[in-house]
Amino acid sequence: MKPFAQKLNELTPELVALVDDVIARHNGDPTQLVGILLDLEAGVERHYIPEPAAYYLAERLSIPPTQVYDVISFYTALHDQPRAKYTLQVCDSAPCRVKDSDALCETLKRLLNLEVGEVTYDGRFSIEKVPCFGACDVSPAVRVNGVVYGHLDSEERIMDMLRQLD
Ligand code: FES
Repeated sequence: MKPFAQKLNELTPELVALVDDVIARHNGDPTQLVGILLDLEAGVERHYIPEPAAYYLAERLSIPPTQVYDVISFYTALHDQPRAKYTLQVCDSAPCRVKDSDALCETLKRLLNLEVGEVTYDGRFSIEKVPCFGACDVSPAVRVNGVVYGHLDSEERIMDMLRQLD
């Protein structure tokens, strides 16, 4: 059996449905490949592009799989390996650091027993330092899967935020 066919055989019905849905939302337009991949990644629990999905997507859009992987490797927002279910993005830009985002990051590290860039053993959490994501007015803040949690200036508020993710 050819490798390409093997990749397609690893597809689950859920993954096929997700890819089909994302392609339909983009009218099957291969020029929207970046947006398609971002939407696909957002729909996968571990926030990455599984290899069988990349191959199926390429087939559906009539483009070579290498084109899909060129885009994934070019854009830092796209990933080909599983990530944490909840990546806690802490703003590392100057206005938030003035509001003590460093203390927020240290508290997250202590509560989760985790260093920046690591993933918890159960795949649930990781911590990432990122540039301004436009939540300066509610800093110190964390962004998780596109949702902003602001005013995290005490351990109690940080724990409340984490509980909302469980
Ligand atoms: Fe931190 Fe804008 S400077 S969210």
